[in-house]
Amino acid sequence: TLVPVILCGGSGTRLWPRSRATKPKPFLPLVGDRTLFEATVGRCPPDLGFAAPIVVTGHLHLEHVEAQLGEIAGAQVLVEPVGRNTAAAIAMAACRLPDDAVMLVCPSDHHIGNAQAFAEAALAAAAVAGEGWLVSFGIEPHAPETGFGYLKRGEAIESSRGTKGFRTAQFVEKPDLERAKGFLAEGGYAWNGGIFAFRVKDFMDELTAHRPQIASVIREAVAKGKEDGQRFYPDAETFKSVESDSVDYAVMENTTRAAMVPTDMDWSDIGNWDALHIALGADGSANTARGGEVELIDCRNVLVDTDGPRVSVIGLEDVIVVVDGNDIMITSVAGVQKVGKLAGAVNQ
Ligand code: GDD
Ligand code: MG
Repeated sequence: TLVPVILCGGSGTRLWPRSRATKPKPFLPLVGDRTLFEATVGRCPPDLGFAAPIVVTGHLHLEHVEAQLGEIAGAQVLVEPVGRNTAAAIAMAACRLPDDAVMLVCPSDHHIGNAQAFAEAALAAAAVAGEGWLVSFGIEPHAPETGFGYLKRGEAIESSRGTKGFRTAQFVEKPDLERAKGFLAEGGYAWNGGIFAFRVKDFMDELTAHRPQIASVIREAVAKGKEDGQRFYPDAETFKSVESDSVDYAVMENTTRAAMVPTDMDWSDIGNWDALHIALGADGSANTARGGEVELIDCRNVLVDTDGPRVSVIGLEDVIVVVDGNDIMITSVAGVQKVGKLAGAVNQ
């Protein structure tokens, strides 16, 4: 079986004021009518061979998760007492599944424009994972981003079903800028899309080899856990003692069984307002307006997102204007990385 494991943990403060602690990025309809979380669930339907999803989230987001998940027979929601990063979150899902199940681990805060390409990559990745590989989705990089993992493409893998992936010759999580530039100049590297396919047993074996504390603590927390309808609560005291580490550092950088499936699926992690502007598309002057009445005169590359008030802008370039309730946020495109700091400072 192929089981979507949907991770819902982040706060998304870089999209403040639209994204807030009480209703963060995954639960907002940032691109199109559906929220990022709804779209993530929707990309893994039964007719493509997916089993019911497992969502891993914290208390804070439980209400949004359940409201947006809808009625899916067999769906599970694993509730973390505290966030301990992705290695523990994925391990918890693994410990709820049979050894030979394949998990498709999906972050719930990404935008994927080409659902067909996603489906093809997911099925290819699942086939390669079924042969014992720990598979990443490889995205063609277009800038030396330091917030991503980098995959060096190695030799081709021919799976028995004829699906091709590649060995990941090297997995480098969040390199510094110099290294990232070097990877782009050298060529043959992809970004790690943060979507993974793992067979349960392979994942737990590799986690046990490289982070034994996480593997054993999560096994125990799940064994002592309690079901409540579709919810599952691991034993809180045990879970709290688990080391916090991301799957990228804990497993992917260390395993010798890393593989990748390249895909061109119009992917964006919508990491800031400018990335959202790009995902939304723009008119001939690179402007985008949404939410309410917006007047733009002599503007270029301006995004206005308003939840009500009319916004009028004259003669600006490379600017983002967001109106949300009592908050107005205006930034230059160059300043978008600092929005997260602002969100912290104004006590969202
Ligand atoms: N349930 C749960 N619990 N989910 C979590 C937790 C946690 O403790 N921590 C993170 N997540 C979720 C986030 O909500 C997100 O959906 C996903 O796991 C990835 O976590 P991020 O914190 O967003 O990771 P990142 O963006 O720094 O890096 C990862 O994604 C990049 C692509 O977007 C890495 O996999 C990189 O290698 C990759 O390039
Ligand atoms: Mg992320």
